[in-house]
Amino acid sequence: MAKIFPSTLLISFAIFFFSTYIKAETPVFSRNLSPSSLGLKREKLSHLHFYFHDILSGPKPNAVRVAQAAMTNTSSTSFGAVSVIDDALTMLPDNSSKVVGRAQGIYASASQSEFGLLMVLNFAFIEGEYNGSTLSVLGRNTILSTVRELPIVGGSGVFRFARGYAHAKTYTFDTKTGDAVVEYNVYALHY
Ligand SMILES: *[C@@H]1O[C@H](CO)[C@@H](O)[C@H](O)[C@H]1NC(C)=O
Ligand SMILES: *[C@@H]1O[C@H](CO)[C@@H](O)[C@H](O)[C@H]1NC(C)=O
Ligand SMILES: *[C@@H]1O[C@H](CO)[C@@H](O)[C@H](O)[C@H]1NC(C)=O
Repeated sequence: MAKIFPSTLLISFAIFFFSTYIKAETPVFSRNLSPSSLGLKREKLSHLHFYFHDILSGPKPNAVRVAQAAMTNTSSTSFGAVSVIDDALTMLPDNSSKVVGRAQGIYASASQSEFGLLMVLNFAFIEGEYNGSTLSVLGRNTILSTVRELPIVGGSGVFRFARGYAHAKTYTFDTKTGDAVVEYNVYALHY
């Protein structure tokens, strides 16, 4: 008895340490968190208003065509054209007004029956509390419609967990060069 007791104790200690060791070392893939643990309290709604400068012409274009299909030139809707943009976002329609961010991404002519773009881009803001934060857009832009609605599918920084929509309205469009200034009203829910 006196001999068995310590060895039983030893074994149970060994099991205890082994099981805690296993627990500590097991990687955790997923867990439930309360939103407050990330500081998420109440969702708020932000409205952002700015002008988007899509400049194709001149010495400093910020929208460049990077690809197109063999049939794009003969398509009445430029179907198959893909452009990359780094467009300034300004407070006012004037391109010399304050820059609040940039629209960086891609648009592609994705309709054969009208001018319809697939737009995949980030609004990267530099203004005030929004500096360094982004909103991500993935939507359809039928550029000849008066107002187009594009979903906001996410964001970063102050826009973490963002969702919402953007209304795009052409302010000026140069039919010769394709240069455009577009007014954006963005409505985003975020924390
Ligand atoms: C389409 O037109 C552009 C400009 O007119 C020209 O540079 C390009 O080579 C043409 N592409 C094709 C595939 O015909
Ligand atoms: C603003 O637009 C004018 C006229 O199109 C152009 O000459 C000028 O370089 C632009 N300025 C900026 C900051 O893009
Ligand atoms: C935005 O943040 C960057 C990096 O932190 C900083 O260099 C820049 O001055 C800021 N811009 C504004 C307008 O606050």
